[in-house]
Amino acid sequence: MSTNPIFTLRNLTQSYNGRTVLDIDQLDIFQGEILAVVGPSGAGKSTLLRHLNFLERPTLGALSFDTFHLNGEAIPLDLRRKITTVFQNPVLLNRSVADNVAYGLKLRGKNGEQVQRVVTETLDLVGLNSLLDVGAKTLSGGEAQRVALARALVIQPSVLLLDEPTANLDPYNVKLIEQIITQVNRERGTTIVIVTHNVFQARRLAHRTALLLEGRLVEVAETEKFFSNPTDPRTEAFINGEMVY
Ligand SMILES: Nc1ncnc2c1ncn2[C@@H]1O[C@H](COP(=O)(O)OP(=O)(O)OP(=O)(O)O)[C@@H](O)[C@H]1O
Ligand SMILES: [Mg+2]
Repeated sequence: MSTNPIFTLRNLTQSYNGRTVLDIDQLDIFQGEILAVVGPSGAGKSTLLRHLNFLERPTLGALSFDTFHLNGEAIPLDLRRKITTVFQNPVLLNRSVADNVAYGLKLRGKNGEQVQRVVTETLDLVGLNSLLDVGAKTLSGGEAQRVALARALVIQPSVLLLDEPTANLDPYNVKLIEQIITQVNRERGTTIVIVTHNVFQARRLAHRTALLLEGRLVEVAETEKFFSNPTDPRTEAFINGEMVY
């Protein structure tokens, strides 16, 4: 993990109908790190991810990604394509597993054997090669989530944003998905931001962990420090499950 920021956020706020739901003074996300974002429901975690994927424009403040400084203009497509999000309940196409995974490559104008090879490699990575020809709509929740992950990974993004990727999954699939996340980060250097309600998952996976409360960052620290020696009493309360919200 480097300490080169791939994202920088400064005084970034998001308001809906005059209500501020995100208010981040300062956050740097480092190239190649796994950053976990934890916090109660409604804290602004998904809103933060939408900003990182440029699906939303800040009401105020500055956001940079790589060499790009968001400034009202359209985000160049090649930069947008470096970032991809996997949501909690992904929607798959009513086609085969392989077609779902190939989709992003085809959008990028790729065809033929090259697509097949990369799709096979990616399905291997998520342990689903045996289901290549199966209709995606027939998959279990855990399998569907792994297809969604494969669909994101096949395009080799620089940044992978994960919004509660294992919520409601069985322990076997949770473990598999956590292994894939770790492997992709190690082997490809992919920067990963994972939003999770599960503090144990944050502790298992992340290099750094951030607590978001009512749209504000309470604490961002190395994961070990975050859990064993938090600076803010609200962090301590949250990780001990004592926070009332
Ligand atoms: N498009 C929108 N219009 C109005 N309010 C919104 C919009 N999107 C989000 N909000 C509000 O912003 C706040 C933060 O929402 P967000 O979805 O980011 O929370 P979260 O931390 O992801 O919660 P959860 O853990 O339940 O997924 C919530 O109060 C939500 O109602
Ligand atoms: Mg959310």
